[in-house]
Amino acid sequence: LVIVLDFGGQYNQLIARRVRECNVYCEVHPYTISLDKIRELNPKGIIFTGGPNSVYGEESPRYEKAVLELGIPVLGICYGSQLMAYLLEGKVETAPVSEYGKTEVKVDSSSVLFDGVSESTICWMSHTDYIAEAPEGFKVSATTPVCPVAAMECPDRKLYATQFHPEVMHTQEGTKMLSNFVYNVCGCKGDWKMDSFVEKTVSEIREKVGDGKVLCALSGGVDSSVAAVLLSKAVGKQLTCVFVDHGLLRKDEGDEVESVFGPEGPYDLNFIRVNAQERFYEKLAGVTEPEAKRKIIGEEFIRVFEEEAKKIGAVDFLVQGTIYPDVIESGLGKSAVIKSHHNVGGLPEHVEFKEIVEPLRLLFKDEVRRAGRELGIPEYLVSRQPFPGPGLGIRIIGEVTADKVKIVQDADAIYREEIAKAGVDKGLGQYFAALTNMRSVGVMGDFRTYDYAVALRAVTTSDFMTAEAAEIPWEVLNRCMNRIINEVKGVNRVVYDLTSKPPGTIEFE
Ligand code: XMP
Repeated sequence: LVIVLDFGGQYNQLIARRVRECNVYCEVHPYTISLDKIRELNPKGIIFTGGPNSVYGEESPRYEKAVLELGIPVLGICYGSQLMAYLLEGKVETAPVSEYGKTEVKVDSSSVLFDGVSESTICWMSHTDYIAEAPEGFKVSATTPVCPVAAMECPDRKLYATQFHPEVMHTQEGTKMLSNFVYNVCGCKGDWKMDSFVEKTVSEIREKVGDGKVLCALSGGVDSSVAAVLLSKAVGKQLTCVFVDHGLLRKDEGDEVESVFGPEGPYDLNFIRVNAQERFYEKLAGVTEPEAKRKIIGEEFIRVFEEEAKKIGAVDFLVQGTIYPDVIESGLGKSAVIKSHHNVGGLPEHVEFKEIVEPLRLLFKDEVRRAGRELGIPEYLVSRQPFPGPGLGIRIIGEVTADKVKIVQDADAIYREEIAKAGVDKGLGQYFAALTNMRSVGVMGDFRTYDYAVALRAVTTSDFMTAEAAEIPWEVLNRCMNRIINEVKGVNRVVYDLTSKPPGTIEFE
């Protein structure tokens, strides 16, 4: 175990993730964790994160100097490096020139930290304060023209520090530096795998839940599926999963979820499928405004879930498939509401429970998928692309009806099938069919038609905040167009959406 002490840096989880990528287990803890707790955790290494403060600020997060005297290797990053210098009586000052962005750094490759790193290497800097003088006994191991101590170390005491951020991708050899720290300084073996996460989490859940009753709202998406399987592994039939089929899922998706989690499936749990399709269609009748649709779907979802929960009675725990990016997103300030994304999966008010269980809280999406594979969840569930909570409700522009749902389901199934068959799905962030609210004139056989236009969309994205329309080969699009018009009744035109985000969004509503 390596622990990351969080001093408020935005990259805290990224550091943990990079360490886990070295097959070394890593957890983030707040800087308020006690020294005794650290001793008890007995980590092989400690990493101090960056942070927005100055070490001289009155309110600045600090840690007692004794943490540097435990004999456990410490790596300070950015603010963490300044804190180390400050605690050991080096000199931290406001830099005459702040450094921000990719910066060429000269490193001393005889340092264990920089073993195998080029002598001149690009690193990501972001600081206004800097270490003007390293503490006594420290050697300066990297510099830039304006930063006299871009890295420093005291190998005897196993203390290392970098002013730059080895964890971000812009630091070209950052992974090498972190792996040097965890392997060569901390002596980690690198034998941790996702199955260790699974094992550890399962035993933690067991301890927490005891013989309590657990309730989970299962959507069939990656996160809730992995969370449910972890819980089932930990506490078996103490877990009840409620799967609300709101009739806005992709083609056959409800049955797929049931076949995996239902009584025929491999897992030990109670599974309840609620077929609430008609109920949702009724509520959505005549509603065209996107946010109104979202709100109705979100609220109805909670109502249905609460009704089921009521039948089960009071439970002790409620499972949430929250993953790390959700944690960051909900912590973000007051940006304008473009869409109320997180309406579905909000907490039910009328379900009695004592505590929430969030087993995936520290993982990134790809780590959740790895955990899912480790747990033996079928690949089609694990590698599923993100699907919005309100489902096809926001892929049908305007009013939602059962007929329109059927059209978009069929068109989307053909599109996904052809994309997979052509092997062009790798690298796509999301791809789907939507039903426009536009009807137009066509001719089929010798007859005039007046039918809907289906829009196909595929985007590449790294974070879903921005996206580019993907270049799907023309012949694949052509095949989809042909099949959709021939096989899906009610459609006589297919268009491809070229809009990037911004100015568009990924979904149509
Ligand atoms: P947009 O359309 O805003 O989508 O570019 C960005 C990502 O968010 C998903 N999305 C939603 N997810 N509830 C959700 O759970 C929603 O209401 C919602 N709207 C959009 C979208 O699929 C994409 O991944």
